[in-house]
Amino acid sequence: MTEPGAGRRRQNEVYSAGVYGHLPRVPVAARKLQRAAKKALNARAYSYVAGGAGDEVTQRANEAAFDRWAVVPRVLRDVSRRDTSVELFGRRLPAPLLLGPVGALELVHDEADLAVARAAASVGVPTVFSNQASVSMEECAAAMGDAPRWFQLYWSTSDELVESLVGRAEAAGCEALVVTLDTTMLGWRPRDLDLGHLPFALGKGIAQYTSDPVFRGLVEQRAASAGAREPQPRPTPAAVRALIGMAKAWPGSFRDNLRSPLPRAAVETFLGIYSRPSITWADLAWLRSRTRLPILLKGVLHPDDARRALDEGVDGVVVSTHGGRQVDRSISALDALPDVVAAIDERAPVLLDSGVRTGADVFTAVALGARAVLLGRPFAWGLALAGEEGVRQVISDVMGEFDLTLGLTGHTAVDQLSPEILRRVG
Ligand code: FNR
Ligand code: LAC
Repeated sequence: MTEPGAGRRRQNEVYSAGVYGHLPRVPVAARKLQRAAKKALNARAYSYVAGGAGDEVTQRANEAAFDRWAVVPRVLRDVSRRDTSVELFGRRLPAPLLLGPVGALELVHDEADLAVARAAASVGVPTVFSNQASVSMEECAAAMGDAPRWFQLYWSTSDELVESLVGRAEAAGCEALVVTLDTTMLGWRPRDLDLGHLPFALGKGIAQYTSDPVFRGLVEQRAASAGAREPQPRPTPAAVRALIGMAKAWPGSFRDNLRSPLPRAAVETFLGIYSRPSITWADLAWLRSRTRLPILLKGVLHPDDARRALDEGVDGVVVSTHGGRQVDRSISALDALPDVVAAIDERAPVLLDSGVRTGADVFTAVALGARAVLLGRPFAWGLALAGEEGVRQVISDVMGEFDLTLGLTGHTAVDQLSPEILRRVG
């Protein structure tokens, strides 16, 4: 009997359960999934995940770009056996799919990154630990066995902290380092600005820092010098909530933390050192010499930057607009992909994120030259609605649709996809 493949397996699962009245835990259609998450989340959490830079033109363009490409399916080819796997940095992945780094997930679910790590590990899809995670990379890695994981780095103003994070990522079994370059400063995000809401200011999304020995040293120094400061005025209810959030973020006893200067010092320290807008190409050599892990640059959109990246010894690039959260009216990621692919000319893998919602999107991105894609917001919505199970379902649905699209267009392996099978329709 022929192996049914990810698509038919998922359909069988859903339709058999449906006979007994059991429906999928989270909506399968991407738009419906987001609408359901909106209902379930509070305004701050939803706005933080859903929002983008400025008028969100880039964010809409990311998705719209997929609509301008169409596949012309072929018939009467034996597609009974399909192989959706791809190779990436010496690993065979079940599909050209990874989970991208998404920070501050505790906003949407208490288990946050841990649920995501478990879900990804259970299906063998790599996950990229965010530098702004809500659970430390060590804790997530411990729940993943040998399953593949990468680490995403924000280049801090503290070299010692960068070194420490990279060393920890290696020790936690991360197989690649993704350096995000499009967020040396946070973009202009009206939804968050209107709510006056930045998760990090409340101690959310700083677990990679509070679990770091170098960072903790800096916090202790700051707290010691703050000890001599004037007492704070009587706090407002919002300030009390912020203090509670900070006390939760700091390791150790919550009750002790409420009285300790360390949680507040941690947030202040983080805000001071999280990113370094002054980094240039010249800094890459420093990082290169400090790790043997493959380094990918995330946020590359210009072909000249892609070429330069390879000249500097980088191992791959992620074409990304950060989900339209950074620069409004930027070129969309998919529109930028073909020129970057041409510039790289098969010398290194090119990955893509921003706007990937479905298995058919994965298909289009791969046909245009992406070795794999990173999924972003959809798995965060799955997490919001049903924790680990919700994330697993979102991944399985995307993989299932990708497998069926591959077969139904007349293909049996990922390396058969190329721009020739697409037509530009818009
Ligand atoms: C992100 N993204 C992101 N990227 C990164 O390198 N480090 C991070 O910590 C985060 N954090 C983050 C939080 C939230 C709530 C979102 C929505 C996104 C960007 C992410 O990796 C990816 O580039 C985008 O999510 C892709 O866009 P779509 O497909 O999700 O719209
Ligand atoms: C964001 C940061 C965490 O996009 O990357 O919110």
